[in-house]
Amino acid sequence: VVDFKTASQKVIALLFFEPSTRTRFSFEMAAARLGLRTLTLDSAASTSLAKGESIPDTIDNIAAMGPDAIVTRHSGALEVSRTLQALKIPVLNAGDGTDEHPTQALLDAFTLRQRRKTLKGEKILFVGDVAYSRVARSDLLLFQRLGLDVGICGPEGLMPNSDAKEWAKVRQFTSLAEGLGWCDSVMGLRLQQERHAENAFFELESYIANYRLDPVSLQHLKKDGIIMHPGPFVPEVDLATDVLTDPRCVIHEQVSNGVFTRMALLALTLGLWGKA
Ligand code: NCD
Repeated sequence: VVDFKTASQKVIALLFFEPSTRTRFSFEMAAARLGLRTLTLDSAASTSLAKGESIPDTIDNIAAMGPDAIVTRHSGALEVSRTLQALKIPVLNAGDGTDEHPTQALLDAFTLRQRRKTLKGEKILFVGDVAYSRVARSDLLLFQRLGLDVGICGPEGLMPNSDAKEWAKVRQFTSLAEGLGWCDSVMGLRLQQERHAENAFFELESYIANYRLDPVSLQHLKKDGIIMHPGPFVPEVDLATDVLTDPRCVIHEQVSNGVFTRMALLALTLGLWGKA
């Protein structure tokens, strides 16, 4: 049971130094449902970052005002991570560069678990920009702990570095049809074009022709398969909008579950579980 009286005295700071729709709203919604108060910094436009203040200084100044916890999304720069680690209050990672997005992994696992008796042995395929996706990396770490069998599928340039240890045990497919035939669930990923070097790795048109999740390619997925995507998707590039009405698609369930997952995390971190 949530101790709403204690919750009403807590203030959390949401510091988003990178764009976000779902994750920021989801944390705000979770906080609102718990009766927490939130203060939100949303990217650089209206803050002293525009005057040249550094992100570490911004974080230290907001921390000095005494929030009970910080939720943050940032580019993953080392000095920002160090500043966050040095804080004496709980910090929840809402996405850091290409590295991690742990609350997304928890909500993805929860969404899958609602549909399956067990996750052990469940085969899941990540399609597309695995190399630059923090969602894929955090999902992989959690899914492997939960006993899922992970596969990846996409053009060579978007596959993780072959010496990256965490991807060593993963099955790699170049054919989407083969990958979809192998898996029980599929996770689409957005092309993270803002993180790609200028010399692109692939032709966009051939990417769409070979790797887009759409009603035709998804014929290769089992009838009781599960279609997921962390969002945002780029319509007709990584996912065709028609897929949203496929009964196997749980994309909006992921979003709804994100609120519950973050409520639980905030309640745990802030010690809001009271006696029934
Ligand atoms: C992702 C992110 O920002 O890491 N979205 C999300 O939080 N659900 C994925 C993306 O931007 O493609």
